[in-house]
Amino acid sequence: MAFPNTRMRRLRASAGLRGLVRETDPRADRLVLPLFVADAEQTADVDPLLGDMARLTISQTLERAREAAALGVGAVILFGVPRHKDADGAGAWDEEGVVQLAVGALKQALPELLVITDVCLCEYTEHGHCGVLREDGRVDNDATLELLARTACSHARAGADIVAPSDMMDGRVGAIRGELDAEGFADTPILAYSAKFASAFYGPFRDAAGSAPAFGDRRSYQLDPANGREALREALLDIGEGADMLMVKPALAYGDLIAAVKRETGLPVAAYNVSGEYAMVKTAAAAGHLDEDDAVLEILTSLHRAGADVVITYHAMHAARLLAERR
Ligand code: PBG
Repeated sequence: MAFPNTRMRRLRASAGLRGLVRETDPRADRLVLPLFVADAEQTADVDPLLGDMARLTISQTLERAREAAALGVGAVILFGVPRHKDADGAGAWDEEGVVQLAVGALKQALPELLVITDVCLCEYTEHGHCGVLREDGRVDNDATLELLARTACSHARAGADIVAPSDMMDGRVGAIRGELDAEGFADTPILAYSAKFASAFYGPFRDAAGSAPAFGDRRSYQLDPANGREALREALLDIGEGADMLMVKPALAYGDLIAAVKRETGLPVAAYNVSGEYAMVKTAAAAGHLDEDDAVLEILTSLHRAGADVVITYHAMHAARLLAERR
């Protein structure tokens, strides 16, 4: 039936009608807030405009997490800014490392708030790459797996609810699953950064986490932004190795893959609305080019519409506040 019998505007005529037929409703408990936990002396200068990306001490992390939990935010994901770095990234699995200590403190103070840990070596290696290096300067895939597995176990031992490997080594989900099971953490889920692209949008994160590669780039392990079919293969391989949830990262330019991964796998999908995407909204809003509140909600809604079950975003607290206000 065509016009004039069909009039699409009928159901857009009032807020009540629009609300009745709205297809996508973001919820605070599906938001994940990233937090950068640092040793006291590592709490440094992050662009004040990107306030929600600041480095925090453990007690500040607790404070921020308490605020997020009070707003109904579902989870936090932790990144560590350690005091010492070395060639192998040994700080990553240090039982007394900032992430391990922060997880313990969070689970004790706020047992209901889910704690996800990012499992990677780049914040802990002097060279800033996500794995250990061979003599020729390339990342040694297989030698890195054991270190990632050790790191994931140390997070689980500290009390992490979910571990999230972001290194993009081949076989890491299987290696982590095997070690978790062997160490008595068979029930700890893995959120795999399956479709993680070598992106221009990670800049502010690398400043906040102090994890920029000292030489070269990450294109020998992260995906080429041109390759969607390859991203889907990564997702399927991760499922085969035991991933419980899959991630697409970045989010805004990758809606096609959020939809494809959801459709092809049926697993819970997380979209990571990354630091450069956050910075674009913040700087455009500060310059008066857009309304930040509206932009935050539109982005969030669009990621859910694309198929994301979970959204990781530096706007999490802001979005949770808006969702509460507009209800
Ligand atoms: C670690 C990691 C990165 C991000 C999440 N985990 C940086 C990178 O791959 O260089 C980026 C997140 C963001 O930009 O918000 N490997």
